[in-house]
Amino acid sequence: MKSIILVGYMCAGKTTVGKALAERLGLRFYDLDWYIETRFCKRVPQIFAEQGEAHFRKIERSMLHEVAEFEDIVLSCGGGTPCFFDNMDYMNAVGHTFYLRASAATLLSHLSMSRGERPLLKDKTSEELAAYVETQLAARAPFYERAQHIVDIDVLDEAEKIDRIATQISGLVEAHEK
Ligand code: S3P
Repeated sequence: MKSIILVGYMCAGKTTVGKALAERLGLRFYDLDWYIETRFCKRVPQIFAEQGEAHFRKIERSMLHEVAEFEDIVLSCGGGTPCFFDNMDYMNAVGHTFYLRASAATLLSHLSMSRGERPLLKDKTSEELAAYVETQLAARAPFYERAQHIVDIDVLDEAEKIDRIATQISGLVEAHEK
């Protein structure tokens, strides 16, 4: 089966949903950031700090090409992956693509629950963060919306909600694989 690729803004729930989906379908789960970190033996924030975002985007593109054509996997991309180069066209060509669409309010609520380091969001006050997420989400949405499917995400604060989204996505994949 072609890869299932999840795109969406930081903290939409790509990793959480991706893991649940992979488990449900008996597929392997990959997170593009984790893949990059393993291959380069460096954390993403360190790559940003030492080599800059432009360099990170080149690495991200080449690692995307390495992983996205694996079969029988669920791949969770970084929030910026669809917005650079021809990455979204490429993902649509090789995989089943899903945009996990969450409002700025949902994203901010997930952000407050997550402890991950995100170089683009650190050092911001909560007002700056809210304004940044809203502006960047609006700029990125046209890229995300080019995914083959759009799945609306509410605050993922219960296992049941995560399960429901995984069921929805697996149903759509199964319909397309027939
Ligand atoms: C980024 C999102 C991050 C990571 C990097 C840049 C972005 O991934 O790739 O910090 O540009 O939105 P997550 O969406 O998994 O946080």
